[in-house]
This record gives sequence, structure tokens and C-alpha cells, in this order.
Amino acid sequence: MRALCWHGKEDIRCDRVPDPQIEHPRDAIVKVSSTAICGSDLHLYDGFMPGMKSGDIMGHEFMGEVVEVGSENKKLKVGDRVVVPFTIICGECDQCKRGNFSVCERTNRNRDMADKVFGHTTAGLFGYTHLTGGYPGGQAEYVRVPYADVAPIKISKNGLSDEQVLFLSDIFPTGWQAAVQCDIEPTDTVAIWGAGPVGQMTIRSAILLGAKHVIAIDRLPERLSMARAGGAITIDFEEESVIDRLNDLTDGKGPEKCIDAVGLEAHATATIDSMYDRAKQILMLETDRPHVLREIFYVCRPAGTVSMPGVYGGLLDKIPMGMFMNKGLTLRTGQTHVNRWTDDLLHRIEEGQIDPSFVITHKVSLEDGPRMYKTFRDKKDGCVKVVLKT
Ligand SMILES: NC(=O)c1ccc[n+]([C@@H]2O[C@H](COP(=O)([O-])OP(=O)(O)OC[C@H]3O[C@@H](n4cnc5c(N)ncnc54)[C@H](O)[C@@H]3O)[C@@H](O)[C@H]2O)c1
Ligand SMILES: [Zn+2]
Ligand SMILES: [Zn+2]
Repeated sequence: MRALCWHGKEDIRCDRVPDPQIEHPRDAIVKVSSTAICGSDLHLYDGFMPGMKSGDIMGHEFMGEVVEVGSENKKLKVGDRVVVPFTIICGECDQCKRGNFSVCERTNRNRDMADKVFGHTTAGLFGYTHLTGGYPGGQAEYVRVPYADVAPIKISKNGLSDEQVLFLSDIFPTGWQAAVQCDIEPTDTVAIWGAGPVGQMTIRSAILLGAKHVIAIDRLPERLSMARAGGAITIDFEEESVIDRLNDLTDGKGPEKCIDAVGLEAHATATIDSMYDRAKQILMLETDRPHVLREIFYVCRPAGTVSMPGVYGGLLDKIPMGMFMNKGLTLRTGQTHVNRWTDDLLHRIEEGQIDPSFVITHKVSLEDGPRMYKTFRDKKDGCVKVVLKT
């Protein structure tokens, strides 16, 4: 089959690889119809996440048709149409029972490595480093889905396109969880850094959850206008001071709820802290560039909540914990507990409350994937979200 494989920094190729096989009676094989490139894939493309091996199959947002089912899998049948969450979950461990799916205790087959690095294992993820199980991903014609009797979301209603439901695999529940973790009140101003695909889903979620004002911060005109179309007030961080503008918009008090939908590859206009981060990152003395987090701690209203869907990989330097502690801020974060939210979100799509396909700007073939990684990373050609058709 054809699959997008990682071969090193900025080196993704569309290779011919062996078809996946059923390896366990709970497995299923899914023939992929649509798959997407995520901002998290860019951290692998840019070489910031350790634990990849040459030839690893990329991708963790995918859906398609079940073509083979293991003998113990009572949930799926050949022919079922499914969206597959990026977190692989067992459904039986203590964390799964509590709905903390992204920290499932059983599905990471390299849990010894994860235990050492993080203190405890986290869930296995599709197409995302050997630290999270080294499972082949979904930017391919076929995928083996382990524990396929738990997580896959069956799409039984006719009339929903792939584009409408595909993002249940990741970015829609990710934006939703980011907003829910802020406990939004009707009087709240919610500020969201990053108007990428995750930021866009977060904006819509914060509005659906009843925020008084939603403010989106980015620098790319097409992303800012998409944010405005979704109901947000926008700030271009290259044109104006984010801190001054947020204070102006909140009578000098700062937003109660702040969401970091950027993560470890933050950009900044020549601030001292961002030059320091770049230098340390180049010298391999720091893995992440936490400019957004510092800005958030500074501007967030005292006793406010910070929600962090943006991914960080390793060690962060110069984080003002004194500011964070004395202001009494709360920080909530995590990879998304996808299945905690998907029944509700599928229902909202079916009811027409939201159509997540608004975020798609590019629909191309799998072969075009390597080129689209670069376009998406460089934010060229108005690219916000890429869907690959197999
Ligand atoms: N927690 C999860 O489960 C989960 C799931 C999916 C994605 N993510 C993470 O969410 C983050 C965003 O993903 P995405 O797909 O939207 O990626 P993306 O790269 O398309 O979007 C990031 C956006 O942040 C903007 N940005 C950069 N520096 C900024 C700054 N200083 N201030 C404001 N905006 C800034 C960029 O211009 C870009 O539009 C990534 O870190 C990704 O890994 C997390
Ligand atoms: Zn993702
Ligand atoms: Zn589990």
C-alpha cells in the first residue's frame, strides 16, 4: 500500500509499504478514505519530537471503512464507516474507567520507555513517536487499529460527508476540551492564542459554550478572517501589542480565561525572551519555545484559568512561576480524551449546530502529502487545514 513515511527532519515520503495485518483478536483493519495533517505532525516534520524512526508511518486523524475484523471484536463489522480517535484506549484500565483516555495505562506498547521519561506511561497514539507506542499512522491506504472494539466512532447516519466528521478524530474534541477545561461563565472573556485548526475549533467551542467575548490572536490574515467569521475579535501579534490590546478589551483587567493553542513552536516579534528561546533551541539546550505561555501568565486576570491544548515536548525555560503562583492561576492541559466528548460532538454535527469542515482549505491526494506538509508548515497558499484523499 501507499503511506506517508517519516525519514528525518523535513523528509516525508509517499512510500510503498506492506499492508497491515490483524495482529490481535480485538483489532480491525480500516481502509482509509480521508486523513488530515495536524499541527502536531509538524513537530515531527520539524524534528522537535524525539523518538521517531526512519520509515515510521505518519498520521493520527483518519477515517474510513472497516475491511477486516479480529475474532474477538464484537463492536465492528466489515463495511462499517468509522472515525478513529488518535488516542488508542483499552476501555478497562483505571484511567479509561474515569474517562482519562489520553493517559490510558495499557495501550502504550513502549510503556517502559514512557515510564522512564514521564514518570508514568500515557496512551498509545497513532503515528506519533515510539514514546507513545510507535503505532503506524493513518496517512496511508490501510491502518491496523488496535483495541478497535473500544474507540472507533461509528458513523451510521447517512448524508454526513467525510469532511464533516473526520475531525472528531482529534481537532474538534481538542478545541472542545480546551474550552471546557476553562469552565466558561457567561461573563467571561476567553482569549485564544493561535488561530490554526485547533484554535479555530476552540473559538467555535468557546462560543457554543456561551463565552461573552472570544478573542483570537495570530498573525496570518486568512486565519484571522476565519476566526472573525466564527465570531471572534482578532489581534494580529505582528501589528499590535497583544498585552495592551487584551487589557484595552477588558478594562485593564485581563481575560479571565486564556488558551494556548500554539504550543512549542511559538513565533514572536523579536522579543528578548523569544531570541533567547531560539538560541537555546539551536544549541539543543532547550526543546520548546514557550513565549505564548509567558505572555498568558502575564496578561491573564488573577484567579483566572489557563488551558493548554498546545503540545510541549520537553523542557521549558524561564517560566515565571512566581507570577503564576501569586496571581493564583489554574493550569489545565493534556492530550485530548477524545472519546470523552465524541458522542456529544457527533450529535451536535448531526443537529447542524456546527460543521467542522469550514476549516479545510486544501483537499489533495496522498501522493501530494509530502508537498502539503511544507505548504502547511510554511503557512503558504492560505493553507489552514489539509485533507488527504487516498
Ligand atoms: N492536546 C492535544 O490533544 C492536541 C491535539 C491536536 C493538536 N494539538 C496541538 O495544538 C497546537 C496547534 O495545532 P494546529 O493544528 O492549530 O497548528 P498550526 O501550526 O496550524 O497553528 C498554530 C498557530 O499558532 C500561531 N502562532 C504562532 N506563534 C504565535 C504567537 N506567539 N501568538 C499567537 N499565535 C501564534 C501560528 O501562526 C499558527 O496559526 C499544536 O501545538 C499541536 O501540536 C494538541
Ligand atoms: Zn493532532
Ligand atoms: Zn485504558
